[in-house]
Amino acid sequence: MSDDKAEEMRLSRFEFRAMNTPFRRFILKHFEFRTFVHFLRKNGIDLKGKVLVDAGCGSGYDTGLIAKEFEPSRLVAFDIMPEQIWLARRLGINAEFYVGDMTHLDLPDGMADAVFVFAVLHHIPDRHKAVKEIWRILADDGVLLVCEPHEKFHWPELEEGIQNAGFEMVERRRLYAGFFRNYLWRKCVVT
Ligand SMILES: C[S@@+](CC[C@H](N)C(=O)[O-])C[C@H]1O[C@@H](n2cnc3c(N)ncnc32)[C@H](O)[C@@H]1O
Repeated sequence: MSDDKAEEMRLSRFEFRAMNTPFRRFILKHFEFRTFVHFLRKNGIDLKGKVLVDAGCGSGYDTGLIAKEFEPSRLVAFDIMPEQIWLARRLGINAEFYVGDMTHLDLPDGMADAVFVFAVLHHIPDRHKAVKEIWRILADDGVLLVCEPHEKFHWPELEEGIQNAGFEMVERRRLYAGFFRNYLWRKCVVT
């Protein structure tokens, strides 16, 4: 990957501060994460004790919510910024944290029952590749939970892009007066 691309995916100093505030944690917990839990319950999907991945985990607050709610048998969490992973490791969560890039995942095919993506795709220039990598590491009945700013702000083809990577949309909900969208996607396997 070029240095320019890597730099583009890193948060600016302002974004880094904004993502690590009590306000961000509050909305993450009470809106984005709660909506995911609601989607899963509504569709009878039980992630308790499963293998879960938090992609672009930031400083690990979302990883902590996932760990507490689902008590996964294995929880893998990664972020492209070493500073975020350094902070995440200090939380004492039972998760495997590492510095990683969503467009080149060092994880085996079909290893995950669910992948969580909280506000990451819009930072990645090659989003198609990132979503394809998520598809690859998901088990055949795996699900993808995504929260992103409304597509018109960052990625006009967000829904089309995820669909084209091999997913079927199960749930979609507007958040924050329509500025964000939460989704539940199911992996499709052509037989
Ligand atoms: C807006 S923050 C969200 C952090 C956390 N998920 C949250 O919701 O608080 C976006 C995160 O995506 C990470 N990121 C950007 N590009 C990435 C990539 N290609 N692979 C993994 N993480 C990436 C950034 O370093 C940053 O921590």
